[in-house]
Amino acid sequence: MCGIVGYVGKQKAAPLIIEGLKRLEYRGYDSAGVAVFQGGKFEVAKKIGRVANLEIEASHHRLTGTFGIGHTRWATHGGVTDANAHPHVSSDGTIALIHNGVIENYGKIKNFLLPKGYTFKSETDTEVLCNLIAYHYAKEAVAREGESRFVESVRKTLHHVEGTYGIVVMALDAPGELVTARKGSPLILGLGDGESLVASDVSAIVSRTQSVVYLKDGEIAHLTASNFAITTLGSDSVEPVVDKVTWSITDAEMGDHSHFMEKEIFEQPTALENAMRGRFSADGSTAQFGGLNISAGEFRGIERFMFCACGTALHACMVTEHLIEEFARIPVECDYASEFRYRNSPLFRNTLFFVMSQSGETIDTLAAMREAKRKGYKVLAVNNVVGSTIAREADGGIYQHVGPEVGVASTKAFTSQLLIGAMLALYIGRMRDLSFGAGVRYVEALKGAPDLVRKALLQADHIKAIAKRYAHYTDMLFLGRLSLFPIALEGALKLKEISYIHAEGYPAAEMKHGPIALVSEKCPSVFFAPSGEIVNKIISSMQEIKARKGPIIAIITERVELPAGLADETIVIPECHEAVLPIVASIPVQLLSYYIAVERGCDVDKPRNLAKSVTVE
Ligand code: AGP
Ligand code: GLU
Repeated sequence: MCGIVGYVGKQKAAPLIIEGLKRLEYRGYDSAGVAVFQGGKFEVAKKIGRVANLEIEASHHRLTGTFGIGHTRWATHGGVTDANAHPHVSSDGTIALIHNGVIENYGKIKNFLLPKGYTFKSETDTEVLCNLIAYHYAKEAVAREGESRFVESVRKTLHHVEGTYGIVVMALDAPGELVTARKGSPLILGLGDGESLVASDVSAIVSRTQSVVYLKDGEIAHLTASNFAITTLGSDSVEPVVDKVTWSITDAEMGDHSHFMEKEIFEQPTALENAMRGRFSADGSTAQFGGLNISAGEFRGIERFMFCACGTALHACMVTEHLIEEFARIPVECDYASEFRYRNSPLFRNTLFFVMSQSGETIDTLAAMREAKRKGYKVLAVNNVVGSTIAREADGGIYQHVGPEVGVASTKAFTSQLLIGAMLALYIGRMRDLSFGAGVRYVEALKGAPDLVRKALLQADHIKAIAKRYAHYTDMLFLGRLSLFPIALEGALKLKEISYIHAEGYPAAEMKHGPIALVSEKCPSVFFAPSGEIVNKIISSMQEIKARKGPIIAIITERVELPAGLADETIVIPECHEAVLPIVASIPVQLLSYYIAVERGCDVDKPRNLAKSVTVE
């Protein structure tokens, strides 16, 4: 949550920072602000709403300084107001700061600072940080040998802070220097040509440099235009590892599409190809992964799997559960990461723990992973953002390799997680009962998935027309069974988050036990009815809805024949292997939600109250 950008170099800082903030806007869009150092003081422009508002506001401030900081906010403490927008400046005017996270003991710190004459202009938890740094900077900080008083005052402050933070700080009498530190919120240093940057996500800096350093929790970095040094909260120096970003700025641009979500839906065939490239064995009967860091022998000894994630990623875990149990015959448990972290779940011996996270920064998923590690379990991570906190702290893992996902509603990251889950089920299955022939058929099916998705995408115009007819409804049910039950949950989540229509996902037969009370001509149901053993059961459930005048949108596979007049709308997807079906079945519900949201005039890529990566609890 929240986007952070800092710049120190020779260029005018404000336009570069605002450009970076635009790329980070998906992380939070309640307000945006920028502060640059010029004329011996901090010049601050901030505004509620989008970065576009900030751009207009900043144009009135003549921001010419060559080092500064900027922020897009996702409010946690204090309403969405200009005063609560970041950057914040200490009341003595000496320190300017941006912050991502939550300072849990801000009340106590405020009570400490108030009698000392520090005053507060905002309701945020953040403002105590800049005042406490100012206090230490003015009164207490003693520079260690070779280290600046500025860094030392930030370090002292952080020793008193409880909660999470990613901060970037400027000090009035340290022009050309930025100090940045993190605990629980992502920060990346960008090392450019005669300039240094810091940001919460690579996309904000990749247009200026591809050399980056991923800051770790408990580290403080001190940056100038030509240099940087990293130390720990305990003052030990850290040998930095400089990484190269492998994608370029065009990967994070919208191209000809109207929204990032549309672009990301339509690039799924290529995304799936990228996610599976090089990951099948030479004999074509199983999957292989480079970074699991766990031997085949160890894998064979696993008796249970535990998967934790949030939101869409949890739905991908639930499909993976189905496939591992079906093809590898090993029990799997899935849990909300936010629940697992507090519920003291007993874990069996020989359990392998997995987390899934597109961003690799979701705080609940990170906490669940740390809890499992603390209990002595190995944790593997499936995630998309290379170098993210979860990727670095996991014992091993699988990258999704689908490039940056910018739309807040996850689409290509989701289907690639489904693919990786399916590949895992194959990998484990082939170590157990899955025969060579079944493995070969499974691999062939996975290889065919991108083309089947291409075929499903051809329904876009048909689905758009359906969306126009259904955009006015206020409630919808999504019903599926077996591996498509999680896709029903995902369809409902997609619709809720981007169109604000109330929607619920249920196992199709379960709707008799409650949700059917909602059914009327005002509440349509989206049914998944693929061919297979229980298709007739699903058709019976559809009849029950029809008998109560509920409109039906049926998503069926090619071989299914519905009784005439049963469905009001029919979307046909190709027949596919069980491991591929959830991927292909996701396409129509993504498109349906997208077109309904567009029809309702919603801000598809930045839905209200949400942020792309949830780095606060
Ligand atoms: C997806 O459409 C949602 N915006 C949300 O549920 C998301 O999947 C969830 O916050 C988890 O994010 P992650 O994959 O980055 O951990
Ligand atoms: N807690 C801070 C606030 O509400 C920072 C929120 C964020 O991460 O954007 O202002």
